[in-house]
Amino acid sequence: MTSKHFLPLTLFLSFLLVGSVQAQQKPIEQRVEDLLKQMTLEEKVGQLNQYSGKAVTGPVSEVKTNLINDIKSGWVGSMLNVKGVKDTREIQSVALQSRLKIPLLFSLDVIHGYKTVFPIPLAEAASWDLEAIRLSSHIAAKEAAAAGIHWTFAPMVDISRDPRWGRVMEGAGEDTYLGSLIGAARVKGFQGEKLGATDAVMACAKHFAAYGAAQGGRDYNTVDMSLQTLHETFLPPFKAAVDAGVATFMNSFNTLNGIPATGNSYLQRDILKGKWDYKGFVVSDWGSIGEMIAHGFAKDNAEAALKAITAGSDMDMESRAYKQALVKLVKEGKVKEELVDDAVRRILYKKFEMGLFDDPYRFSDLKREQKVLNDPQHRLIARDVAQKSIVLLKNENNVLPLNKKAKTISVIGPLAKAKRDLDGSWTVAPDTTLTVSLFEGIRQKVDKKTNVLYAKGCDVQGNSLTGFEEAVRTAQQADVVVLAVGETWDLSGEAKSRTNIDLPGVQQELFTALKATGKPIVVVMMAGRPLVFDQIADNAPAILYAWWLGSEAGNAIANVLFGDYNPSGKLPMTFPRNVGQIPLSYNYYNTGRPVLNENNIIYRSAYIDAPNTPKYAFGYGLSYTTFGYSDLNISKPQMSANEKLEVSFTLTNTGKVAGEEVVQLYLHDKVASLARPLKELKDFRKVMLKPGEKKTITFTIDKEKLSFFNNELQWVAEPGEFKVMLGTASNDIKLEGNFTLL
Ligand code: GLC
Repeated sequence: MTSKHFLPLTLFLSFLLVGSVQAQQKPIEQRVEDLLKQMTLEEKVGQLNQYSGKAVTGPVSEVKTNLINDIKSGWVGSMLNVKGVKDTREIQSVALQSRLKIPLLFSLDVIHGYKTVFPIPLAEAASWDLEAIRLSSHIAAKEAAAAGIHWTFAPMVDISRDPRWGRVMEGAGEDTYLGSLIGAARVKGFQGEKLGATDAVMACAKHFAAYGAAQGGRDYNTVDMSLQTLHETFLPPFKAAVDAGVATFMNSFNTLNGIPATGNSYLQRDILKGKWDYKGFVVSDWGSIGEMIAHGFAKDNAEAALKAITAGSDMDMESRAYKQALVKLVKEGKVKEELVDDAVRRILYKKFEMGLFDDPYRFSDLKREQKVLNDPQHRLIARDVAQKSIVLLKNENNVLPLNKKAKTISVIGPLAKAKRDLDGSWTVAPDTTLTVSLFEGIRQKVDKKTNVLYAKGCDVQGNSLTGFEEAVRTAQQADVVVLAVGETWDLSGEAKSRTNIDLPGVQQELFTALKATGKPIVVVMMAGRPLVFDQIADNAPAILYAWWLGSEAGNAIANVLFGDYNPSGKLPMTFPRNVGQIPLSYNYYNTGRPVLNENNIIYRSAYIDAPNTPKYAFGYGLSYTTFGYSDLNISKPQMSANEKLEVSFTLTNTGKVAGEEVVQLYLHDKVASLARPLKELKDFRKVMLKPGEKKTITFTIDKEKLSFFNNELQWVAEPGEFKVMLGTASNDIKLEGNFTLL
């Protein structure tokens, strides 16, 4: 190249560089408008279209597509279920061959970890440790972002009081207050302080809305409820996610009062984008736009597309209705192009925010992927949140903690050496061989000279007793037996509703056979939901509920079994005595005929064949130490609506080991324009105390904590008397007092 060429080329390149820098310095709104102006209607609709990669997480559409061609022609705005730097880079390069080179968003269900598997969300909810939950989501995001993922379909913030519904494993349990705080913590964990960092991903509040109230606990089933209940119980966790800055929403499969959520303007336009002024975008759930035909709410894909875009569903996951019908609907004047433009703006805005127009490959860096996915620190963090999620249900005569120098420990049961099961449902890229089994965790924890024996005993499902004899023999050789029973990972999760939530198979019979040996037995229950297991509950001296704890499960459970971690978990969901009690939650109403005495239920709101009380209550969980509650003080007997009052008390560790207590504050609005629950969780603290240590705990009560949605859907605090209760569980109140709202 001679000098006469050199100068113009340098000028040209500098012009390009300056142009690109100037473009990057423009406000995102402007960049979106500049791009939107260049887009054809087809390219706009393309941004609203999301396809899945090879791995599917829903029914496969009959509509055949040529994925590569569609991406090249600008018909695809996002992909789900494509993961890893190599694959995301490859697919992104195809998108950059399209006319306007608009990068794709890559999304994945990183629900509880990417490569390092964290406890299922229901387990983490049992930790009541918001910082641990935030950190867990942050590590999941860090690993996913290093693997080319921009967007996770989490947190699932669906409140549910029905353990028949398999997706309770994905949420934070039954309580709106706890679920709202956990949802916000997860959003912060996934997204970090500001979207666009390459160790964070966009989060997605799902499933909007009330999916957890499916009738009969049957997945995808009808939801029908008062708007008062919707606003008071099911919407607040979504609003908490909005307030935490959640980048996206996902709607839900169910109808709400006859209208599918996907085509529900009340939810998506009036509330989300209207009252809450939400600026992010809404993705449909898998095929849910097309499913409005099956619902009987749309006659064909064209009507489904029309109803969905009108109702505020911005992106179509896998139904292909938008790709098939939206251009024609706009050209026929049946859908205003402004509606399409609004959806496109919302999606493009996020792509700019994630820096994808400046560098479409910024999340696809091979070196970073290798380094981040093998960071040993992540497993230590996973172990910490796992041990905090374990709930000690029973510990008679202090069978626990066990002695690391025991001569022989027999680890028995179908989940004793399980690995895949311990990762639970909704794992996306785990290396299950690296998951620590309970047997391995115990082996690594105890003295080298300790004999650790194993027998499977039986399968999780099925009725074969052939393994019992060997299991009994193995138990007879032991000083103590650890029995690992529960569900397999695929007995909970999406499309895994059960009419019977008993411990499956002959696992309780195995327990009975082992119990007959007279050896002390510690039962470790592992499942994705509350189960019914009376035989064990009533006859085992010690029981840990260990959910699905992920990669570090065995180490976390061993830490608790041998006292290296004092269990601090509290149940985030009620455990019913039997499935007939469902729905059952702690915040029940008194009714006009409450049961005052379980021996007198005549003409009372009761069953004749079981008590109303649960097997284990919301907020219940034991410790290896004990705690005393004393010196309740309410700062004043009354408060006006614009004042606050303080409730304080002294918490004492009255035992011999350090431990954490989750102190729970419940309120009851005694008389109001609507009947109010006998107790509602309104605050809590997780407090570490050394043996003998005392601490004054103070809660502030303000108008917000006294408010509820009335039937006019106003958020009101009505004057009157309130009871304040402080407890170690919803059914174990230690201190109570009253005050008046003027
Ligand atoms: C599934 C789930 C949803 C998930 C989506 C993509 O059907 O309902 O939670 O994010 O499809 O996998």
